[in-house]
Amino acid sequence: FKKMAAPVREELFDFQGVPMINCFSSNWEKVQSFQARPDDILIATYPKAGTTWVSYILDLLYFGQSSLERQTSIPIYERVPFMESAFPSMDTGGIDLLEKLPTSPRLIKTHFPVQFVPKSFWEQNCKIIYMARNAKDNAVSYFHFDRMNRVQPEAGDWSSYLRRFMEGKMVFGSWYDHVNAWWKKKETYSNLHYMFYEDMIEDLGREVDRLSSFLGLSPSAEEKENILTGAKFDNMKKNKMTNYSTVLLMDHKVSPFMRKGKVGDWKNLFTEAQNKEFDQDYKQKMKNTTLQFRNEI
Ligand code: A3P
Repeated sequence: FKKMAAPVREELFDFQGVPMINCFSSNWEKVQSFQARPDDILIATYPKAGTTWVSYILDLLYFGQSSLERQTSIPIYERVPFMESAFPSMDTGGIDLLEKLPTSPRLIKTHFPVQFVPKSFWEQNCKIIYMARNAKDNAVSYFHFDRMNRVQPEAGDWSSYLRRFMEGKMVFGSWYDHVNAWWKKKETYSNLHYMFYEDMIEDLGREVDRLSSFLGLSPSAEEKENILTGAKFDNMKKNKMTNYSTVLLMDHKVSPFMRKGKVGDWKNLFTEAQNKEFDQDYKQKMKNTTLQFRNEI
């Protein structure tokens, strides 16, 4: 009996100016030369902004009616491959998965900052969906994720984690740089739909309508109902195909992947002093942008 190699937490290092770990940079050449097709749809997010949520909604929009088998036997990370991923514990990287996908359009997940996106996506004028989440909830969610995901660098205690978040020393780099550079991209690239986690929590129906109209889709009332039900937090938490319970790198006993799904959970972790310092620093870092977030709704 062969014992599976225990996952090893990776070290953060500077990759072309962005803090990164090996399993997202080691496939670099292959990722950069990836040939996007005009109908490919790229889902881009900073980690923990609601990637899985928006991925699942897109999957239901395109394939919800197509086959029951897809919905009941293929986990979300195989339906929507994570482009730059190259986990040592898996023999197939994101690009290989993408090249083998039998369905179209291909739905593609990335956490890359905008300057890392392979150039064929821009050349093909692909539709891109960017989902962003307020910094405080994003940081808290990332903290719990780094605790439970055994390839991510050690989370350490919350106060040191929050400091590193503010310094941008996170896998995929600074939240501030990420959300701002993607926001700026909208000025020159019109096929980009920028969405907010808080808007989805506030009114999912409205956001699904906006998304559909961006994609040029018009789901029937029944399809829409099916999407709104399937994409409810409690249902995604129960659904083995969306809750990541099948991924061995994650220890859901430490913290479940589908953790809380709320706006404002940061209030349970930030101390008053941390909040004050964070707000001051935030103002400074976000002073040159028109981008606005809601920390509560
Ligand atoms: P929390 O840790 O705050 O609960 P990602 O998919 O980018 O890794 O983001 C994960 C975060 O999105 C987690 O946040 C998770 O609970 C939340 N999430 C996933 N599905 C959701 C849903 N249907 N409704 C609300 N939040 C959801």
